[in-house]
Amino acid sequence: MAITFDRHRRLRGTAGLRNLIRETSIGVNDFIAPIFITEGSGIKEEITSMPGVYHWSLDTVDQELADIVGLGIQSVLVFGVPDRKDPRGTSAYDDNGIVQKAIRQIKATYPELVVVADTCLCAYTDHGHCGVVHTTECGAVIDNDESLALLTQTAVSQARAGADIIAPSNMMDGFVAAIRQGLDEAGFSNTPIMSYSVKYSSAYYGPFREAAHSSPQFGDRKTYQMDPGNAREALREAQSDADEGADFLMVKPGLAYLDVVRMLRDRYSVPIVIYNVSAEYSMVKAAAMQGWIDEKAIVLETLTGMKRAGADLIITYHAKDAARWLQGI
Ligand code: PBG
Ligand code: ZN
Repeated sequence: MAITFDRHRRLRGTAGLRNLIRETSIGVNDFIAPIFITEGSGIKEEITSMPGVYHWSLDTVDQELADIVGLGIQSVLVFGVPDRKDPRGTSAYDDNGIVQKAIRQIKATYPELVVVADTCLCAYTDHGHCGVVHTTECGAVIDNDESLALLTQTAVSQARAGADIIAPSNMMDGFVAAIRQGLDEAGFSNTPIMSYSVKYSSAYYGPFREAAHSSPQFGDRKTYQMDPGNAREALREAQSDADEGADFLMVKPGLAYLDVVRMLRDRYSVPIVIYNVSAEYSMVKAAAMQGWIDEKAIVLETLTGMKRAGADLIITYHAKDAARWLQGI
């Protein structure tokens, strides 16, 4: 008797069939492009470990924005590189800080572009931590509740500059509640919060810290960012942010945490964001420059995998390349 079996290959026979039955596809509306803006003028400086990603000054950044908008990308995530740092990160919540100036300029030129502001202190503090540091007899501690006030001031000043979305990345407890209340009291009850809810303490942020000049000057971020081994704890982090009113939940980094993306997708109905972080980008670029991989195929496969895992939106340094490839340009 002949054996019986399923013929899965029936639906794979032609490109047309494959296109018809594809479950997950990516498009330019899925991407948020990060952008680094620095004080100074005439600056377009490539970040060594992130080929194709630059520091821009306010007078040069329009080249990059015109490119991004021209490719149909809907959104940018703005990071500032300030020219002065101090223990309390005052330039983060200065209405004339680099991010605030950048947001005003971007919104004036591209009112339709969705501008997301990263809300943290680490690029603005001289010690490089994401909150206020106190020295005690047991060493340095990051003061959670005191940091909340500064983060809230930062978020409000970003909203005042015109930010469309506030994206707090600092991993203090209660930051969504504090920022929500601050935004509401300042008249920004319509400004959404994209919370970096589940953010692991990760070596994958290495190149970013070179780009943002935001490495901690002592210790590490393990007392506030999560341990990579923990998945159930991710649910507690996500639940707090959902309870506190986060409009988006983010998982970061991406590749090594796709299981966490899936868990959140299955449990929450708000948009889920994944951050395809700096070292994920650098590894692809390095191998591509060696001629070891097919960059376009690798990037599109990776981004598809992130969506298949449950992400609605992908913050990625590949945004411009991917937008080009998807549109055949
Ligand atoms: C700031 C911040 C970091 C990243 C985004 N916002 C660095 C960190 O927490 O150390 C990392 C992004 C990347 O690696 O691409 N808190
Ligand atoms: Zn930080």
